[in-house]
Amino acid sequence: MMKTYHSIFRECMVVQSWSRRHAKGCVLSSPLSSKWNCKMVMVRCQSTEIPRDDRTYYITTPIFYVNASPHIGHLYSAVTADYLHRYKLLRGFKTRFATGTDEHGLKIQQAADAASQDPQSFCTEVSQRFKHLFQSCNISYTDYIRTTELRHRCAVEHFWTVLQSKGFIYKGNYEGWYSTQDESFLTLSQVGDAKDSSGKAVKISLESGHKVEWMKEDNYMFRLSEFQSQLRDWLEGNPRAVQPERFHRIVLQWLQEDLPDFSVSRQTKRLWWGIPVPGDPDQIIYVWLDALVNYLTVAGYPDKHSQWWSSVHHVVGKDILKFHAIYWPAFLLAANLPLPQTIHVHSHWTVGGKKMSKSLGNVVDPLERSQRFTTDGMRYFLLRQGVPDTDCDYDDDKVVKLLNAELTDSLGGLLNRCTATSLNPTQVYPYFCINSFPTRCAGGQEGRAAAEDYHMLDSVYALPAVVEQHYESMHVYKALEAISGCVRQTNGFVQRHTPWKLNRADSEDQKWLETILHVSLECLRIYGTLLQPIVPEIADKLLSRLGVKQDEKSWAALDFLAKYQGKQCPFEGRTLARDLQTSGVCSVTSLLKVDTIILSDFIL
Ligand code: MSP
Repeated sequence: MMKTYHSIFRECMVVQSWSRRHAKGCVLSSPLSSKWNCKMVMVRCQSTEIPRDDRTYYITTPIFYVNASPHIGHLYSAVTADYLHRYKLLRGFKTRFATGTDEHGLKIQQAADAASQDPQSFCTEVSQRFKHLFQSCNISYTDYIRTTELRHRCAVEHFWTVLQSKGFIYKGNYEGWYSTQDESFLTLSQVGDAKDSSGKAVKISLESGHKVEWMKEDNYMFRLSEFQSQLRDWLEGNPRAVQPERFHRIVLQWLQEDLPDFSVSRQTKRLWWGIPVPGDPDQIIYVWLDALVNYLTVAGYPDKHSQWWSSVHHVVGKDILKFHAIYWPAFLLAANLPLPQTIHVHSHWTVGGKKMSKSLGNVVDPLERSQRFTTDGMRYFLLRQGVPDTDCDYDDDKVVKLLNAELTDSLGGLLNRCTATSLNPTQVYPYFCINSFPTRCAGGQEGRAAAEDYHMLDSVYALPAVVEQHYESMHVYKALEAISGCVRQTNGFVQRHTPWKLNRADSEDQKWLETILHVSLECLRIYGTLLQPIVPEIADKLLSRLGVKQDEKSWAALDFLAKYQGKQCPFEGRTLARDLQTSGVCSVTSLLKVDTIILSDFIL
């Protein structure tokens, strides 16, 4: 404890009123009474009280600041949470998916001022832009929250009152560095020297590069220092709480350092755009405390949150990890609520190797790009190229090349080939002949399949488990790489056996032709099912083209190539759906010249 307070002073984070009260009798070494310690133990025991329903899943995106329009990085956070949501639905979970906008704080107050608008209508306008983007990009949220809503204000006030009544919030004095852009307090070691555009010496946050200001105010403090060891216990006992592992290690590293109490309110005379502290209208609740509670508001806090709260998972960018993996769990422990199941962390998108910024003019508009490359095209690109552990660079040419290669040529080409009327004039799901493609253990029986064909079957049988592993750990690019590899193998299979050269008048050739098509359509059915969380429109059209019904699109219904395993195949003999596009395969590049083409139309 002594160490914590020394370091607080060292870092210029002065907790005056509290220390004044305790310094006289030299009680600094034991600042909390034994009554306090008892409470902490109870918190620890009770914080997992709400029973966890393993089939419920509540996923959240961060709520987005409304000081500027959405960019490609925001869409990435949303698409990441969206694929997890859709994946869990596919696995039969009861789900909830929240997103929304973060509308309070100094940054928003200043942005509204700069736009000469009142903050409420300014927020409504920008929040609407985010909502429109998410709807256009098929972000399947179930709840859209704005922190200016009354339901949220009630939740925040209640949460504050609980923390204060338990003694975790106290009146103090804060002195230190503050970044308005990040709405974040910084210690001395997190601040560095720089020059602004006019060459003037300024202090900046070493992490974000944003300008910081010295701040000195009487306000309310949160006893963060009390939670250091509980946070460490939680992370050490739950190695998958923060994913990927790299970020888990970073948080544990932070927890080795001092964790000073920090300010959770601002004076109303400096910042009035926010939720007032209950019972003290001279203070406004710190925007991050306000914002983090949004996750509880959506879950129904304070009366009806238990069903969802025990299975909450957050998706966050790396820049807001500390708020979610340290401040938020500490607040929850203080309020005696369960901690998040997982914090999924992703890295950032840069453009031309640089952070996106208005002044550099390199901000990529996600709505415009999703109109240009289609919604599914944009979703596929972000999830296929985005690597959670490291930053990625956005580039339009890369988008075109990737979509042409993997979606249009490879996947679209395979579907077009195998459903073409020239190869399949009756347009039914073809029959599988076990004599043409005998099981490997059918000793001595000669079929027409080659060794590579058996390897392909092995890959496709194994694919759902591979994809599951990568979807769960947020390594989507690896899942998509695996699917893409299998699509290539299936194209190789068709190419190897050139079904268009077979003699249909010969019954053995005809059976082999149908078997090739059956195996290929079975592969496509698996790819389509697994791709639903990533490219929902394309996957839906692909599966519909194959005649797959709604209740056959779930993970449980995958059952690849049932006939090969001696089981019935429900699809055999079923009429394929009408081909929506008879003009064949087109490339993204050629279609980019046309304004209104939907990617999913030209693979069908
Ligand atoms: N309002 C806070 C979050 C509060 S959550 C209780 C906030 N908002 S934000 O609009 O700045 O960022 C929202 C999300 O977008 C964060 O996950 C952030 O990491 C992400 N991104 C912002 N820029 C990004 C990139 N350049 N690339 C990828 N994601 C980025 O922080």
